[in-house]
Amino acid sequence: MSVEKSRPIRIAILFSGRGSNMQTLANHIAQPEVNAEFTVAITNRPQAGGIDICKQLGVACHIIDHETFDARAAFDAALDDILRAAKVDLICCAGFMRLLTADFVNGWPDRLLNIHPSLLPKYKGLHTHKRALEAGDKEHGCTVHYMRPEMDDGPIIVQKKVPVRDDDTPDSLTQRVIEQEHIAYAEALDVVLKKMADT
Ligand code: GRF
Repeated sequence: MSVEKSRPIRIAILFSGRGSNMQTLANHIAQPEVNAEFTVAITNRPQAGGIDICKQLGVACHIIDHETFDARAAFDAALDDILRAAKVDLICCAGFMRLLTADFVNGWPDRLLNIHPSLLPKYKGLHTHKRALEAGDKEHGCTVHYMRPEMDDGPIIVQKKVPVRDDDTPDSLTQRVIEQEHIAYAEALDVVLKKMADT
């Protein structure tokens, strides 16, 4: 897809929980030098804390409760309908704790980003901080990547490392990594927007 330089890139953010990555992305997008707009948010969890963030930002937030769908493909079709209707150019998954079907992912080639709290390809999936601690890793971190049909797979855009301390717990490590997630996602967005503007 080629996008004229003057038109702001229309961004959707998908989230499932608290929404701190969404908030950071929204703050970044709001800067005048960032040629993008936060067009729509979607969550699969009716109780997600991030819904309040959308209200404060005045951004439309669609709630598609995955538990009301029989099949993964039906949920993804509903998601796709909203994204297409909103004429979205780029989708940022930000703590969106839901696997997406290959059909959905392939429908948004290089237009679908994800953040994962590990130094991929290490620790795909859940409980990454605990797993890094149990493995005795000396460093840990986060990754923003283009999504591919395999879970937590795809070309890496930005990675940020943090040291693991001897007295770290999963909670303390989570805190150190999330601070880097916020920095990483804003940086990755800049990289992707530049790439989209250049093609
Ligand atoms: C982040 O650590 C994200 O990488 C992970 O879930 C967390 C979501 O945090 N998959 P938030 O909702 O962005 O605050």
